[in-house]
Amino acid sequence: MLNIKEQGVNAETVFHGEALSEAGRLIYKESAPIFAQAIRSNLKAGEYVLADLGSSKGEFLEDFLSLLPEYTFNTIAVDVNVRDLEVNIAHEKVLSNISQLALANKSIDVTLARYALAWNDLETQKEILKEIKRTTKHPTRRRIAGEVKTTFRWDCASIAKR
Ligand SMILES: C[S@@+](CC[C@H](N)C(=O)[O-])C[C@H]1O[C@@H](n2cnc3c(N)ncnc32)[C@H](O)[C@@H]1O
Repeated sequence: MLNIKEQGVNAETVFHGEALSEAGRLIYKESAPIFAQAIRSNLKAGEYVLADLGSSKGEFLEDFLSLLPEYTFNTIAVDVNVRDLEVNIAHEKVLSNISQLALANKSIDVTLARYALAWNDLETQKEILKEIKRTTKHPTRRRIAGEVKTTFRWDCASIAKR
C-alpha cells in the first residue's frame, strides 16, 4: 500500500488542476465539473451534509463547491494527514482512516472520494466502499461519475457486496 501520509511536492497545485503535464491537467481539472454535474442531475438545490473522503487540503472540495453556488453543503473532510486537514476549508474535519469512518449510519447526503480509493489495497478499498454505503443516505444515488472524456459510472453499492 502507498504511504497515505505522503503527498507529492506539487500536490496542492496539481489537485486544483494546475499540473504541468497534460495528463495531470486532464485528470484533476476536468473532474470537478463532472462531479458537479452528477450533483445537479441527482439533487435539487438545497442544504445537504457532504463528506469528502481523502480530502487532503480540500483543493478538490473548493473547486467542487465553487461550481455549485446554488447548493448549501455542510462539509466534513476526512483524511489521515493532520497537516493537510489543518488548512482544509471544510466545516468539520475528521482525522481518520476512511475505511473506519467515525460517522453515523446514513448521516451523509453526498460522499465524495476523488482519487482516494487508489491509495489503498483491494481489501481496504472494499472496506471504504462498505463505509460509504453505511454512512450515505440514498442507496440509489450512490453513484460516482468518474473518468475524463468517457463518462464512467461506478456503482459503489454493488462493488461493496463483492
Ligand atoms: C491523491 S490525494 C486526493 C486528494 C483529493 N481528494 C483530490 O481529489 O484532490 C489522496 C488523499 O487521500 C488520503 N487517503 C488515502 N487513503 C486514505 C485512507 N485509507 N484513509 C484516510 N485518508 C486516505 C491521502 O492522505 C490523501 O490526502
